[in-house]
Amino acid sequence: MIQAIKGAKDMLPESSQVWQFLESKFREVSALYGYSEMRTPIFEKTEVFHRSIGEETDIVNKEMYTFTDKGGESITLRPENTAAIVRATIQNSLLQNSPLVKVWYFGPFFRYERPQKGRLRQFHQFGCECMGGAAPECDAENIALAAALLKAIGIDEYKLIINSLGNEESRENYKKLLVDYLNAHIDELSEDSKRRLESNPLRVLDSKEERDKKALEGAPSILDCLDEESKAHFEKVLKILDSIGIKYAITPNLVRGLDYYCHTVYEFQSSALGSQDSLGGGGRYNGLFEQLGAKAAPCVGFAMGVERLILILEALDKLPKPEPACDVYIVNGGENFSHISAELAEKLRRRNLKVSTDLFSRSFKAQFREANRLQAKFVIVLGEDEVANGTLTIKNMSDSSQVSISVSELDSFQF
Ligand code: HAM
Repeated sequence: MIQAIKGAKDMLPESSQVWQFLESKFREVSALYGYSEMRTPIFEKTEVFHRSIGEETDIVNKEMYTFTDKGGESITLRPENTAAIVRATIQNSLLQNSPLVKVWYFGPFFRYERPQKGRLRQFHQFGCECMGGAAPECDAENIALAAALLKAIGIDEYKLIINSLGNEESRENYKKLLVDYLNAHIDELSEDSKRRLESNPLRVLDSKEERDKKALEGAPSILDCLDEESKAHFEKVLKILDSIGIKYAITPNLVRGLDYYCHTVYEFQSSALGSQDSLGGGGRYNGLFEQLGAKAAPCVGFAMGVERLILILEALDKLPKPEPACDVYIVNGGENFSHISAELAEKLRRRNLKVSTDLFSRSFKAQFREANRLQAKFVIVLGEDEVANGTLTIKNMSDSSQVSISVSELDSFQF
């Protein structure tokens, strides 16, 4: 039997209501913060990601699904959306008509990672990007939106960690200090971190290896290297978070795995997830418009992993209870009456009732069994007697009470 690709999951009918519930919350909460939906293609020219995420990141180095199409173009299935949203915002000149463009998205993303709990090769993200605003108020509002979304879906046990990577100058000054420190402790570092020390030294900071964590214990903190502008930006973000009651933990080692960040970076973590504990994260990215060839525009955004949100809801036993898929089941006396039951079903569906009928000419008993399986609230019986008398028997499945009505009364019957 042909199986799905490793790390790619089928969304089965029984979980569709959970996905629809989440999507409706993404829509509702984003609207409250003035974000509109944006949909971009699931593939882009490879260059979009190479120029934005960073050549030395795991995503670009190891995880992208890249192929050459029949026209000889290098194409990549999007591993994330920030770069693609910026590409689309530039291409459609959205910032020329409005000083601020705030968009949200939801859809599939692709990374060639080793699949495990909470880590897939095709996964889904919900994300929000605020483009055109440099003020720390934008960062705080973006974080507030993420927190409001978590609350709206029922996740209130999580940790928000936050850091500032400062402006470019602060970051360069810090990098020098860090590289000096790491070189003095090179023998204590893992092989991966030794390599990163050469290619991308900041990434050594968020190594999960115990020996790296130990070696980093005395490392300089980026927060001590922030210049006045960077410090003021970060302090204002924190001040707003304090005033709106969002709790956070300042974590100087948080750098995140994509190279486009500056100033505020943040991540939401949940212990319900096990080792892949990040349910979402983001930060400020002021250089991306220029990196993609446009006039500079300061931005901030985040994305959450939807499968991870579902895992947390599962662990907290907070998955929304599925709604019964059937309001009315029409039990009919077989093939001869199927056209009448189809007509009744259509009538009721026009009243927005969810209606199922028997499509197999099954026995009455089997049809009642099916009505029970579907948790139908009402059953309409259309047997020989009913057809002969122009009546319908309606059974309320919650208390087994039964009434007989004439067919003409169906329109006004309250289900
Ligand atoms: P990211 O941290 O790479 O950031 O991904 C965001 C979230 O996507 C993660 O916290 C995680 O929940 C989920 N995720 C990532 N990879 C996988 C995977 N293989 N399987 C399941 N879930 C996964 C970004 O993608 C940035 N674009 C976020 C951002 C938006 N920054 C600014 N704006």
